[in-house]
Amino acid sequence: MKTRLIAHREVSAIGLGGMPMSIEGRPDSARSVATIHAALEAGVTLFDTADSYHLHSDEVGHNETLIAGAIASWGGDTSTVLVATKGGHLRPGDGTWTIDGRPEHLKRAAEASLKRLGGDAIGLYQFHRPDPAVPYADSIGALRELLDAGTIELAGISNANPEQILLAREILGGRLASVQNQFSPAFRSSEPELRLCDELGIAFLPWRPLGGILSAASLGDRFPAFASVAAARGVSPQVACLAWHLSESPHVIPIPGASRPESIRDSVQATEFTLTAEESATLDAA
Ligand SMILES: NC(=O)c1ccc[n+]([C@@H]2O[C@H](COP(=O)([O-])OP(=O)(O)OC[C@H]3O[C@@H](n4cnc5c(N)ncnc54)[C@H](OP(=O)(O)O)[C@@H]3O)[C@@H](O)[C@H]2O)c1
Repeated sequence: MKTRLIAHREVSAIGLGGMPMSIEGRPDSARSVATIHAALEAGVTLFDTADSYHLHSDEVGHNETLIAGAIASWGGDTSTVLVATKGGHLRPGDGTWTIDGRPEHLKRAAEASLKRLGGDAIGLYQFHRPDPAVPYADSIGALRELLDAGTIELAGISNANPEQILLAREILGGRLASVQNQFSPAFRSSEPELRLCDELGIAFLPWRPLGGILSAASLGDRFPAFASVAAARGVSPQVACLAWHLSESPHVIPIPGASRPESIRDSVQATEFTLTAEESATLDAA
């Protein structure tokens, strides 16, 4: 398994996104645990989750608990595994997503996530989404306090624009480890953030890298160039897509979601698949 860096932590170049295992359409827990174990067996050492990946209001942290439990029940060495979680979003249980970026909420949420994940500190804690009702600097100030207190090992942000990336980096005293923004063949408007992270050496974690839970399976139909590069090389369109993400910058680490072992087993093949310059250019233009 090829690896990449999030600050000083070396992780698999493809991570596993946990959201499909905990929100609408989620599978039973046995299939989810099998999916997480398949990822570990394939060499995945980055797992992306959030306290808000749940359905009902009384199961906050469903996905964190699921991932922590599956990692604990796996028989192999998990000492290099990094679980990246997020705070700042809430799900009241009616299908909506709300936001709370107040420092007091983020600090309480991080403590609760740490309890669910176990260990001495959260590996990577990401501020999920800017809250228009709270100055961004105040939310990031909470991350700085969490870093200084040792509650979190690394700090990241999500759904941020270039100004917010620069502000967060400044407030964290250069300790901004990662940015997680939406990026896929269908959604390329985070290109400026990706380029800024590349320039600054900050890990960029594209979310919804295959187009999302409802669209990932039809990626090849919607983007024929990905299907034809994939067919010529004997891989799936999804592997070609993840290889394209990896080719964008050495700081990109895609986190495809999965709820089936086959999906993540297929996706990790992208780490061993290098696009030619011509293929990259074709996919950039697709
Ligand atoms: N920061 C944010 O605001 C934010 C927002 C959304 C998501 N995220 C994170 O980003 C992760 C990825 O996004 P996402 O899960 O929404 O979308 P995605 O990764 O684009 O698509 C997920 C779907 O792709 C399918 N899939 C994965 N690998 C495949 C393969 N090799 N071949 C065919 N299908 C494959 C999975 O199907 P099966 O379910 O059948 O396995 C899964 O349902 C999430 O899980 C979450 O951790 C973050």
